[in-house]
Amino acid sequence: MQIKDKVKERYGKIAVSGNTENCCMPGDCCSPSSNIIPISSLRSQQAAKSIGYGQSELESIPSESILGVGCGAPTRFADIKEGEVVVDLGSGAGIDVFIAANKVGQSGKAIGIDMTDEMLEKARSNARTNGYTNVEFRKGDIEETLPVDDNSVDLVISNCVINLTIDKTATFRQIHRILKDGGRMIISDLVTDKEVHGESVDAEKWCECIDGALTRENYLESIRKAGFSKIEVISEVPYMKDSEQTGGRNVASITVKAVKGD
Ligand SMILES: C[S@@+](CC[C@H](N)C(=O)[O-])C[C@H]1O[C@@H](n2cnc3c(N)ncnc32)[C@H](O)[C@@H]1O
Repeated sequence: MQIKDKVKERYGKIAVSGNTENCCMPGDCCSPSSNIIPISSLRSQQAAKSIGYGQSELESIPSESILGVGCGAPTRFADIKEGEVVVDLGSGAGIDVFIAANKVGQSGKAIGIDMTDEMLEKARSNARTNGYTNVEFRKGDIEETLPVDDNSVDLVISNCVINLTIDKTATFRQIHRILKDGGRMIISDLVTDKEVHGESVDAEKWCECIDGALTRENYLESIRKAGFSKIEVISEVPYMKDSEQTGGRNVASITVKAVKGD
């Protein structure tokens, strides 16, 4: 099975079961490791708080949208304004889409993109049940067929997703394509101190947000190659220490801001 199919399978199961034990929890992937942040703070809302979300912010969105599988809180740094069009890549059950929707109001729009049917179903159900009319969840692969028009978006956000893509520069090019001139992206993601390539890649560890992670330097370079300017790391925290689980690598969570145009 190809890595991408495995990623879909993994996140499809998480969407249906709500069980993040096979992924994105301590000992697995996208939530802080117990050797940095205590295990007790690592279930859904707790996990979300431990990576930067505020309690009142979490209370303002559907609780079912909070899976605790992100690695940062990009909306915290995004200065989202009423009327803006915001796109969230790899939107999962919708956590960041609903936060953005509350900020852009009825004159704006928040659009989530995901390639996993079960996640889309969960996110759409969350929107329906909670009466959101300014959100939309679209199916698409963010590195190939991002289903959003050119030059149409004020802000792109993403939380612990781009490490799961195969070609990071292709993903950043897609983001660049859909942003308006002067538009910005705020991306939270994982980076590592040692990349793995070729036969050393373990598909399971890729799904756990480890083996697909680039070094900080290569991550920023792929953003540069996609044509962005004003690239800035606005937050950086240790996430998982070198261990068997990480394949002997240190993993950090970074949040990066970059702008289309000068
Ligand atoms: C670690 S989860 C993060 C979900 C969400 N951002 C959050 O913080 O709760 C990764 C999500 O990205 C989606 N995903 C992974 N690779 C993708 C791709 N190439 N295109 C679209 N969605 C993708 C998965 O289906 C999954 O929902």
